[in-house]
Order: sequence, then C-alpha cells, then structure tokens
Amino acid sequence: MQASTRCITFPSVRRGASLTGPRVELRALRAQDWEQWRAVRLASRAWLEPWEPLPDVESPDPVADVEAFRARCGAWERQRAFDTAYGFGVFLRRGELVGEVSLGSVQRGPFQSAFVGYWVAQDHAGHGYVPEAVVLVLRFAFEELGLHRVEAVILPRNVRSRRVAAKLELREEGLSERLLQIQGIWEDHVRYAITREEWAQRRDDYERVFLGRRTRFKAGERAR
Ligand SMILES: CC(C)(COP(=O)(O)OP(=O)(O)OC[C@H]1O[C@@H](n2cnc3c(N)ncnc32)[C@H](O)[C@@H]1OP(=O)(O)O)[C@@H](O)C(=O)NCCC(=O)NCCS
Repeated sequence: MQASTRCITFPSVRRGASLTGPRVELRALRAQDWEQWRAVRLASRAWLEPWEPLPDVESPDPVADVEAFRARCGAWERQRAFDTAYGFGVFLRRGELVGEVSLGSVQRGPFQSAFVGYWVAQDHAGHGYVPEAVVLVLRFAFEELGLHRVEAVILPRNVRSRRVAAKLELREEGLSERLLQIQGIWEDHVRYAITREEWAQRRDDYERVFLGRRTRFKAGERAR
C-alpha cells in the first residue's frame, strides 16, 4: 500500500496556519516541501551545523529520507495540535523557502512561555528575513497564543544571532552554563527574553520597523 501524503488536521492546527509580512510568509512545512527544504539544507550545511545539536544517532535523516521529513512534519503538526510547539517554514513571498522559525517548549500554567528558534539559508542571510519572521512569531505568540514570555538562547560566539536579538531589543538576562548540546558539547548560552508587557509597549515600533506599512492581515489574523 502506498504511504498516505495526507496529514491529519486537528481544528487547532489551523491556528496561525500562515503569518504574512511584507517580504516573508510563514507556514507549517508539508511533505511536498521536501525537495526544496533538503536543497536549502544541503547547500547551507556548513553554515548551519555549527549552531545546531547533533541529532540522535538512531533517528533517520530528513535531508536524506523523504519519509523522515514526512515524520518531522507530522511531529510539528501534532505539537501544534497539542499546543506544545509551532514550527514554520520561512518563505519569500514568491514562494521560495529560505529558512525556518519556531516557537518551542510552550509551557502553559503559571509560565505561559516559549522559546524562539530560527535559521536562514546562507545565500539569503543579511536581508533581515529572520528579524521580520521573529516579529511575526512574537505577534502570534503574544496576541494569538496569549503567551506571557518568549525567550531566545544563543551561543555567546554566535554574533549574527546576537545581532538579531539586539535589533529586536530582546532583554539580555545573563548566561546559562552548559545549557544545550551543540555538536555534541554542552555549551553555555546567553539568555534573551521579551514579555508581553514589553511587546505591548513596543508593538507599534516593531510593526513600523520590521513589518512596514505594507503588512497584510489574512483571515484569522488580527491587527489590534
Ligand atoms: C543568525 C541568522 C538567523 C540571522 O538571520 P538574518 O536573516 O541574516 O538576520 P539579519 O539580516 O538581521 O543579519 C544579522 C547579522 O548577520 C550579519 N550578516 C549580514 N549580512 C550577512 C551575510 N551576507 N552573510 C553572513 N552574515 C551576514 C550581520 O552581522 C547582520 O547584522 P547587521 O544587519 O547589523 O549588519 C543567520 O545568520 C543564520 O541562520 N545563521 C546560521 C544559523 C544560526 O545561527 N541560527 C541561530 C541559532 S541561535
């Protein structure tokens, strides 16, 4: 029997299905995106891998195996349905995939928090696509998901990523020692955060600087 290409759609999966800025569009990756995604990942492998954890040795490689990529999409979809993580491909408005951005480790209860993560292809770096994507995700986090705090954790030597945090005026909160496994080593990370109160104070500036006047809102998105 041929493997199904359809994904199960939960009602809540529709929440934030697509976030649109002036230059980028964020949407969940689908199995059909595999060729494009693997091409980007292969072309940018040396650019991306120094900043990423080593995968589990037994997990199949989604770059090499379409079924592993399909499973990856399904895992993001389930996490979205269960409100534990939200993953998005970053597409240019003409449809080209250039990276990913995610909200992970969503904690409800008294925390109401999540972590933002991101990458962009090497040949699309330096155009501000990630800051734009992160602003869209922050708006989604605070205004659609109702979260109270979004954090980013960055290797001290990752100057480009720290520039993104600085541009977005994320508050630097200090260093967490040996926080994450990166390329097999437990690495210290600088912690950054923004709370809903800070978002509310700065949202107009964010939208003016990073989303510009051309921002369009799709059905289901709200401009407040
Ligand atoms: C960090 C990263 C996501 C930034 O995304 P981006 O869309 O390029 O962000 P920006 O355009 O705002 O550029 C950020 C900084 O990158 C540097 N940069 C600019 N052009 C660049 C280029 N062509 N190539 C490499 N770096 C460049 C600059 O220092 C820039 O800051 P500036 O605008 O003040 O000069 C991207 O560099 C990346 O994916 N790096 C590899 C993976 C990674 O580090 N992920 C984050 C882990 S925490």
